[in-house]
Amino acid sequence: MSTTITNPLRVGLRQERVIAPQCLVIFGASGDLTHRKLVPALFELYKQRRLPSEFALLGCARRPWSNEIFRQKMAEALGETINENHLAWDQFAAGLFYEPVDLQKPEDLIKLSHRLEEIDRLRATRSNRTFYLSVSPKFYGSGCKALANAGLLSDPKRSRVVIEKPFGRDYASAQSLNQIVQSCGQENQIFRIDHYLGKETVQNILVLRFANTIFEPIWNRNYISSVQITAAETVGVEERANYYESSGALRDMVQNHLTQMLAITTMEPPGRFDPEAIRNEKAKVLLAARLADELEPWNCCIRGQYAPGGTKEAPIAGYRQEPGVDPSSTTETYVAMKLFIDNWRWQGVPFYVRTGKRLAKRLSEVVLTFREAPVHLFDAAGGSPTANQLILRIQPDEGAEWRFEVKSPGSGMRSRPVEMEFSYDESFGEPSDEGYVRLLADAMLSDPTLFTRSDEVEAAWRLYTPLLELIEDSPWQLPIHPYESRTWGPAAADTLLANDGLLWRRP
Ligand code: BG6
Repeated sequence: MSTTITNPLRVGLRQERVIAPQCLVIFGASGDLTHRKLVPALFELYKQRRLPSEFALLGCARRPWSNEIFRQKMAEALGETINENHLAWDQFAAGLFYEPVDLQKPEDLIKLSHRLEEIDRLRATRSNRTFYLSVSPKFYGSGCKALANAGLLSDPKRSRVVIEKPFGRDYASAQSLNQIVQSCGQENQIFRIDHYLGKETVQNILVLRFANTIFEPIWNRNYISSVQITAAETVGVEERANYYESSGALRDMVQNHLTQMLAITTMEPPGRFDPEAIRNEKAKVLLAARLADELEPWNCCIRGQYAPGGTKEAPIAGYRQEPGVDPSSTTETYVAMKLFIDNWRWQGVPFYVRTGKRLAKRLSEVVLTFREAPVHLFDAAGGSPTANQLILRIQPDEGAEWRFEVKSPGSGMRSRPVEMEFSYDESFGEPSDEGYVRLLADAMLSDPTLFTRSDEVEAAWRLYTPLLELIEDSPWQLPIHPYESRTWGPAAADTLLANDGLLWRRP
């Protein structure tokens, strides 16, 4: 019997909104993101029958490719998936086109406009367009201007722009980029993407908090003693040294993905589920966030970098040995920091945030630790009772887990911790979609709920800009601590918590 029939939780699982006929234009179509994430996500939407038949994907980049070369490259990117879905691929590929475009050349924009009109005729895409800027961040502003000058953003109902991260390099540059893009169109045409917001489990934090009554009453400083937010990766910098050298973990992961997890975990309940209500609350809580020690940030922020490791037989290169990395680089591949949120709900609760590459495990999670029982009536198995924890597992093993004390079986009255679990996979019987699947669909639906608004991005940069300036001006004050690959990062990061009598969770 199929799982669809046996699992009642799957009934009505795919009740999706309808994407209108349109052409998605990807600038940077020859790049890494297009073949690793964007086209696989679009093909997934196609297989789920979520793309309208009047859909076209126009790839644009400077390379002089033809439609055929573009289709072939995308087929190579999808690899095995195509073998299993030959027919679907042939139909999907018929809607793939390519146009060589340099966004800096006005004549190329004229060519592009004509090509889009031709695609409208061919595929009935009705001048409805989503432009995706997957280009170098330095071209985000000029790219938007080029589209606006060519008249391609003039209809707010039929044109929108998706902008990849990083949106700016600090507070001032994010502000000026916002000014530029807002001069090109309306805020509701601008979709600043953060793929963590597309993850099922990050959205689940909202549902868990605001669709239940059991969590919200205890979701505050009266019951929660600390929060840890982790995004750990086992991979290194891979082929992205060029970008990563000027970015580092703070700009690459903390300012966006970790801060979005922080905002969703800590925001106030929105009055209704609509994009503005949600984004108002996220922006508001980020404005109340601050480094734990603003005067001496080195007390609340630790930077690390992975050193050579592995075994003699299977050595692992250190960050400085990676191709394209400066052998004396001081770019951080690990950051841990402590933050506070100065509002009524969170005053005094420490938030410990960490991320790093080449760590012991691939793991993203939010861990809420609750205050201990005021009186210890029972002996505990481990000497003292463990504090209750709610663990929101973002990835892998998407789900959530409660930890609490129960009576140990037997004649005594000893307590010991146990776990109660919810797993997406076990409950719903199908893997969650990649973040990009959800976000591409939402952008094409013109739904900005899961995209960051201008004030949110600025509030996030405002939070970290003092650290970035300190690293720039006096790097010795935030030194790089080397750490061995496949560990949990530098020992100095443990001190950050040990000073508060705590430990990082090591699952
Ligand atoms: C990207 C970063 O935004 O997120 C990468 O640029 C990082 O450096 C990646 O590896 C992590 O995403 P995920 O979905 O694998 O956790």
